[in-house]
Amino acid sequence: MRAKILTFSFLLLNFASGQDATEKPKDLIKLCEVCTCSEIPEIDGTDLVFNIQCSELDRIENVPDLHKVEWPENPNGLKISAAFEGLGLSTLSKLPPNTQVVTLRFSNNAIKTYWPDPFSDVPNLKKLSFAQNDITEITPDLFTKIHALEDLDLSYNKLADFNSMDFKSLNHVRRLNLQSNQLKKIPVRALQPMTALEDLDLGKNGIFDVLLQRVDGDTMKGLKRLNLNGNRIRAVMKDSFPANNSIELLDMSNNIIEIIEPEAFATCTSLRELNLAQNNITFTFALPPTLQIAMLKLNTLYHWPTFPAGITYIDLSYNRLSELYDEIEARFDNLEVLNIAGNQINDLAIEKKLPKLFSLDISYNLFTKVPKSLSSQNFPNLEELRLDGNPMEFIYFKNIIAVKRLYVNELSKLVVVDDKAFSNVVGRGLDGADENCFSLFLSNCPHLSQIRDGAFDATSLCMLDLSKNNLTHLSKNLLDWSSVGEGVDLQHNPWHCNCDLQWLLDELLPQMYAEHSRLLAELRCGAPRAIEGLRLVHWYNWTEQAFCGDNYLQSGPHGTYMLQPSTDQGVPTISRLGIILGCCVIVALLIAIALSVYLVKSRKRYLVRQAALKRKRQSAYDERNGNGKEQFSALNKA
Ligand SMILES: *[C@@H]1O[C@H](CO)[C@@H](O)[C@H](O)[C@H]1NC(C)=O
Ligand SMILES: *[C@@H]1O[C@H](CO)[C@@H](O)[C@H](O)[C@H]1NC(C)=O
Ligand SMILES: *[C@@H]1O[C@H](CO)[C@@H](O)[C@H](O)[C@H]1NC(C)=O
Ligand SMILES: *[C@@H]1O[C@H](CO)[C@@H](O)[C@H](O)[C@H]1NC(C)=O
Repeated sequence: MRAKILTFSFLLLNFASGQDATEKPKDLIKLCEVCTCSEIPEIDGTDLVFNIQCSELDRIENVPDLHKVEWPENPNGLKISAAFEGLGLSTLSKLPPNTQVVTLRFSNNAIKTYWPDPFSDVPNLKKLSFAQNDITEITPDLFTKIHALEDLDLSYNKLADFNSMDFKSLNHVRRLNLQSNQLKKIPVRALQPMTALEDLDLGKNGIFDVLLQRVDGDTMKGLKRLNLNGNRIRAVMKDSFPANNSIELLDMSNNIIEIIEPEAFATCTSLRELNLAQNNITFTFALPPTLQIAMLKLNTLYHWPTFPAGITYIDLSYNRLSELYDEIEARFDNLEVLNIAGNQINDLAIEKKLPKLFSLDISYNLFTKVPKSLSSQNFPNLEELRLDGNPMEFIYFKNIIAVKRLYVNELSKLVVVDDKAFSNVVGRGLDGADENCFSLFLSNCPHLSQIRDGAFDATSLCMLDLSKNNLTHLSKNLLDWSSVGEGVDLQHNPWHCNCDLQWLLDELLPQMYAEHSRLLAELRCGAPRAIEGLRLVHWYNWTEQAFCGDNYLQSGPHGTYMLQPSTDQGVPTISRLGIILGCCVIVALLIAIALSVYLVKSRKRYLVRQAALKRKRQSAYDERNGNGKEQFSALNKA
């Protein structure tokens, strides 16, 4: 009896659970069956996370029904990170409960609307991204019950404004990304609850003014990084930033700033990096004493701002400077990088040394010669020196200077590089190498047609770029070519391939072939006519002295290798091709003659046959209409 009841209840239970089991798979989407699930290390740590990746490649059906997803079993109790990306979602529905979900990404969908409180059952969410969707508005019921949220990405949506309650429960958000929306002003009221905010990205909106000082309470007091790049800001005023703010990195590049009040940054007492590149700033302003990095390129500054003593990086390129900084005032003891390219400076009268400078760029200014202040005495730690695009007619380093890389490209007035031009340049060797060599970039000088034998006397090069000049000849004695370990780029020059350049085939070419064959692709002869345009590698490994006498065509290579045999076999190929072509023409002619003879003959036969036929038909017709003529005459008579 008892056994019977048990069996009965067992059956009943089974029935009930069986029903359950048949209902579940029909309704619920088992994420790991349609998406990719894996246990991977966290991006910024070594802990494992349970990662669920659903993208357009997965076969998710019913994608709008996120409330029907079933979170996977997570046997190890790991944190869950889930991404539903590029699925075309337009509505966000409420997610089923889970306390282990910490990251959710809905990037690159078309989300416009959402159910109320979509995340209220995933209370431990820390990171949430809606990047690249169609959200135009946020309501206070979107971010409810996710107090733990630390990182919110709403970039690339269509948000134009916020209500003051939109973020009311997000007091732990540290990073907020609102880049590329349609904001016209900084949503100060809405940001008020975000008292932990450190990193705010408002780049690429339509914000036109910054007046943060009037903000009450602790809003933005903890902000460390503020990005306002690519907006429509016209002025920076003394009340632009909150009093005693903590901003360390401020990016206001690519706006239309014309006015900066002298004390505009006075409240930024922690500022380390300031980016004001690509604006319309003409007048100087005070920089905070904490500043280390100043990006001011692409403005219209006529004068040097006063930089604080801790400055390490200055980019003032493409402004209107016509003079060097005032040495009495400037404190550049910590300066490491100075870029003043693209100004109108013609003199570098430096007397005080820049002990830490390792990169100096004075390209595209008005220097007519290498400034004599460029010396190791003034720049004891220089590694990279750029002099490109200056109107120099000659190159001569008067004082000894040690560098790793020297750039003298695009010197449009340079015709000849004289003896001893680089004799005072000393190398520092490339990273890791001890040799005292430096790399020289002397390229793109359209009139440079000669480098005298002594130009590199007493120097040692790690790399030499002479490409895109107007050089026809290169002396074997210019350098110890075998020591230029990082390669010699001689491409795009109109080399005269005569006996004077034979050494290049014999010595330099094999070295380049072995180590830097990419530098051979455009190394071609510019003369004589017969071999113009041919690659020098064509003669690689030839037995005879190809460039001396008339040997271009007579000898052949040891090996069979050609870089690009189809174009580079030159004249021999042409004559062989000629023969083949000639044969073809003759054969074609013969065929044509035979054909025309045949055609003429058959045409004749055809004509003869036609004539006979016509005659036959005519006589038959005449016979049939024998009385026709009589009828006519009868009519005439009538
Ligand atoms: C800013 O900080 C200074 C000292 O750090 C303090 O004297 C001043 O009162 C502060 N001002 C505000 C508005 O908090
Ligand atoms: C920047 O200033 C220049 C003249 O100084 C002016 O021609 C240009 O239109 C200005 N640009 C903007 C965006 O205001
Ligand atoms: C390059 O040099 C040749 C002479 O070798 C000269 O005729 C030509 O004008 C030069 N080209 C330029 C752009 O200076
Ligand atoms: C070049 O010639 C040498 C013999 O002189 C031969 O050993 C070598 O394989 C050749 N290299 C090529 C690529 O043909």
